[in-house]
Amino acid sequence: HKLRPDYRLNYHLMSEFGWMNDPNGFVQYKGLYHLFYQHHPYEPVWGPMHWGHAVSRDLVKWEYLPVALAPDTEFDRDGCFSGSAIAKDGKLALMYTGHVVTGPDKDRDYKQSQGIAFSEDGVVFEKWEGNPVIGYDRMPEGVSRKDFRDPKVFVREGQYYAVLGSNDAKGNGLVLLYRSDDLKSWTFVNVLLESDGRFGDNWECPDLFPLGDKDVFMLSPQRMPAQGEEYRNLHSTMAVTGKFDLPSGRFRPERYAQVDHGFDFYAPQSALDEKGRRIVIGWMDMWESDMPTQRDGHGWAGAMSLPREALLKDGRIVYRPVEEIESYRGNPCRLSEFELDGERGIDAFGDSYELHAVFEAGRASAFGLKLRTGEGAGGPEETVLSYRTSDGLLRLNRDRSGIGPGGERRAAIPLSDGHLALRIFVDKSSVEVFAGDGEVVMTARIYPGEASQGIKLFSEGPCRVVSFRKWDIR
Ligand code: FRU
Repeated sequence: HKLRPDYRLNYHLMSEFGWMNDPNGFVQYKGLYHLFYQHHPYEPVWGPMHWGHAVSRDLVKWEYLPVALAPDTEFDRDGCFSGSAIAKDGKLALMYTGHVVTGPDKDRDYKQSQGIAFSEDGVVFEKWEGNPVIGYDRMPEGVSRKDFRDPKVFVREGQYYAVLGSNDAKGNGLVLLYRSDDLKSWTFVNVLLESDGRFGDNWECPDLFPLGDKDVFMLSPQRMPAQGEEYRNLHSTMAVTGKFDLPSGRFRPERYAQVDHGFDFYAPQSALDEKGRRIVIGWMDMWESDMPTQRDGHGWAGAMSLPREALLKDGRIVYRPVEEIESYRGNPCRLSEFELDGERGIDAFGDSYELHAVFEAGRASAFGLKLRTGEGAGGPEETVLSYRTSDGLLRLNRDRSGIGPGGERRAAIPLSDGHLALRIFVDKSSVEVFAGDGEVVMTARIYPGEASQGIKLFSEGPCRVVSFRKWDIR
């Protein structure tokens, strides 16, 4: 397989070839980080789902391992859908959804149930002969008989639990909680949480974890009704902070927040590592996004976001790229503080780098950066990150980002003492913005021409660029 190199990412995990969607089985096992993913190895389009597999020592540099699960038994014959991993008695266990098509319309006629697989070495997995471990017979009344998937397994108070996404078949997403002693026999505990009408008609890829003195329930709802500047993608991801109550198995929500305010971030999964960090990684694409690498002989589609550490700050979740990325910095560039009034190109460029900029708004009504600027095949290109002081919204605009989809996403973030700090990660076909202290993150895939490597700063009215630093990431 010879892939076209354009758009292949330098420091993000992408599919070696073929298609990738959700992160699965994210875990640190015997010191090594394992990340599995929804994978169609034969074509760059979604198809019968396999579990691709990669490992890393530092969450940045990944090595591909053989496909871990393929759809080859009765209960998963049409796909090994999303799921999670947990270490048990020295083995690595995977818990996942078996997908079976039951009629002529594959989008409507299907059945889903849950299975497990074990590995002694973290490389070769054997499916348990007793699968499925949770079928429809373990579902409560009034819940969808179709959508029943994406088990995330975890330990609480010495017991195994799993959360599973579903809906009430009337158009409300919900999540089911199960309990087990051995990962093989499971009992239904309760509906952990259900949509209150605002959050989509089916819930996918649930996750539940403690963070600081709170619990966080993370989920990916399908078909979100747009809510002003929030939840603008049809598929979106939200994190609910609150309290997970046992033995009732209910979640008491306190605060709903969007996980990522950009275009391309879905189905994230978290892992707790040996350093005690809660790390979140998401599919850096979105079902409704056009993906140009599916065409023209590119041969691959789909990538993962940077792994982000989630932290609780003043009752809300902030996200920061894992610190390991910093050891890949090279070729540092720094500008000393200067006043900006209008547009200024700078003597730094690239297509895969980390950039820090701190603006002091001063009297400017707007300011920001233009990234990946240059002449593309279809005319001038730029990806614009701008902040307006009048509405306090950070905007990420990819209308002229190249051959991919356009659009603008906005997120509210107040200035801090008149300043805005931006930490930006650009890779060959992606941009991730961490604003402020990480309270706003925006992720997007972009597909500029290879020559579009310029960086510009701009303002409307005078502001100060207090700090500007950039490193290539290789
Ligand atoms: C989320 C999802 C999951 C499912 C998987 C199939 O993106 O729809 O609910 O398990 O993708 O690939």
